Amino acid sequence: MCGIVGYAGRRKAAPLIVDGLRRLEYRGYDSFGVATVGPHVEVYKRCGRIPASLPESRAMKGSLGIGHTRWATHGAPSDTNAHPHTDCTGRIAVVHNGIIENYASLRKRLGRKGHTFRSETDTEVIAHLIEEEYDGDLLGAVEGAVKSLEGSYAILAVAEGDRRIVAARCASPLVLGLGDGETLAASDLTPLLEYTERVIFAEDGDIIAITPQGAEIRNNGEAVERPVELVNWCADDVKKGGFEHFMLKEIYEQPRVFYETARTADPAPLLDLLRETPALTIVACGTSYHAGLIGMYLLEEFAEIPVRVELASEFRYAVPPVRNPVLAITQSGETADTLWALRAAKARNCPTVALTNVMGSTVTRLADAAIFTRAGPEVGVAATKSFIAQLAVFLALADRLGQGRLAASLGNAHLAIGDLLREDVGEAVALLRGARSIFYVGRGPFYPVALEGALKMKEISYIHAEGYAAGELKHGPFALLTPETPVVALCFPGPAYRVMISNIKEMKARGAPVLGIGVPGDRELGEVVDLFLPVPGDDPVVQVLTSSVLVQLLAYHTAKSLETDIDRPRNLAKSVTVE
Ligand code: M6R
Repeated sequence: MCGIVGYAGRRKAAPLIVDGLRRLEYRGYDSFGVATVGPHVEVYKRCGRIPASLPESRAMKGSLGIGHTRWATHGAPSDTNAHPHTDCTGRIAVVHNGIIENYASLRKRLGRKGHTFRSETDTEVIAHLIEEEYDGDLLGAVEGAVKSLEGSYAILAVAEGDRRIVAARCASPLVLGLGDGETLAASDLTPLLEYTERVIFAEDGDIIAITPQGAEIRNNGEAVERPVELVNWCADDVKKGGFEHFMLKEIYEQPRVFYETARTADPAPLLDLLRETPALTIVACGTSYHAGLIGMYLLEEFAEIPVRVELASEFRYAVPPVRNPVLAITQSGETADTLWALRAAKARNCPTVALTNVMGSTVTRLADAAIFTRAGPEVGVAATKSFIAQLAVFLALADRLGQGRLAASLGNAHLAIGDLLREDVGEAVALLRGARSIFYVGRGPFYPVALEGALKMKEISYIHAEGYAAGELKHGPFALLTPETPVVALCFPGPAYRVMISNIKEMKARGAPVLGIGVPGDRELGEVVDLFLPVPGDDPVVQVLTSSVLVQLLAYHTAKSLETDIDRPRNLAKSVTVE
């Protein structure tokens, strides 16, 4: 998704902005651009990735500027459609994250007034609207221009002769970083961490004048104060730290992330609601949805609270008749489907709670209360440590509601996850990397682990993979089993063990090679599968965690052997801010 960075300070703006844009690369983008204000407004923009060295940015004058990474929505990726966009005179430049719904009618109206458009984007109308309003005061011009806009936006605008960046926010994230004699603005915290830990999260309707000395905020024509918050992430969190990929670094951070989240995340907002109304609906997408499914097993088994888990993208259009608390799980806090589902729940007067990793994110503003995971910034597009952190919160919650029955798992899981990270998956990768299609199967809480394993595999290795409840395979997918279709079977001691062993035998009888994941020393499983990978963990809850990490490693090493772009897989964005 698009990312924006602005800088007003004493340093040369363009190289600093480009560096900030690199920190936003993980969001996904197809073009980039920068505008600075020196004696004139200078713009440099290109289709494609930001090169390792960009001498053009070093040549740009000015210590005030704005930049953008674009994820094309209106108009194909091209140099012309890349942001910043300028007005007819080239003296006003704008970057924008979001979608202007009424851009077509605005474009017609501005065209009739003689404005010349160069790009196919919705954003360009903003530059021309500001031009219409501009009489030497950029703040007033932006304030006037946004009155015509329908849709979502975080906008940064600069103008020749003006020593301010003017920002506006409506339903797209915008955070300000307050440094020493320098002020930054960005779509998320990652470009700011190098410069400051003091941030302000802009609110909808804010119009902000950004100068090196700070930020003055207006809303509805009135000056407003917003709290300055301290960020507990640091600049090293968004560096690879010797790892080849962010994904691998983030996988290896999981023992610490689990430990810290289990001990410090405060599930109180949900705890209180569930004590009052013991029923929960969870809405989420992708990996967060899988965490919700595991959460369902934990809360139902250990706290006897009935839980329904809904894909957020479905929930909005078929809202079930719920009155109970609704929990929205979203790592980024910006996933459009999840935000819409939350709005739908609020419209039904359900109490709402967000479980997220990002302070100040939109979901925290929308929900009645928020619980924060302690994963730190997750840069790899594939969610890993944020998933383990979400599970840590569910464990803590189920433990509190279930009279401490999960205390041992909560206490030991980080050690088991650490042990798992020493597992050698070389033989398993050899089995999987040539597959046309892979099935992941499990039962009970291992079924969502199967879903998650398949999602990780297809997302970064581009091998087709499906997660199934093990019992469902014979209701159709059996037709696909061949020696080229390996099955990853999660088979653990418990009520489903015997039937899993029978299922595995049936799969093998259809010619599929089976990779079994189970507990160390399980000779029976070891004998029926082609390859056996044991995972540490004394109880099923910890085994869910360690097998989740194992399927991440399988996906990572398979993708690595296939030389895919692991941290930025094709066609995907880290936060999916459109429906
Ligand atoms: O930020 P969110 O947790 O709301 O994101 C939801 C999904 O887009 C996300 O989990 C996605 O499925 C991951 N890329 C999977 O690894």
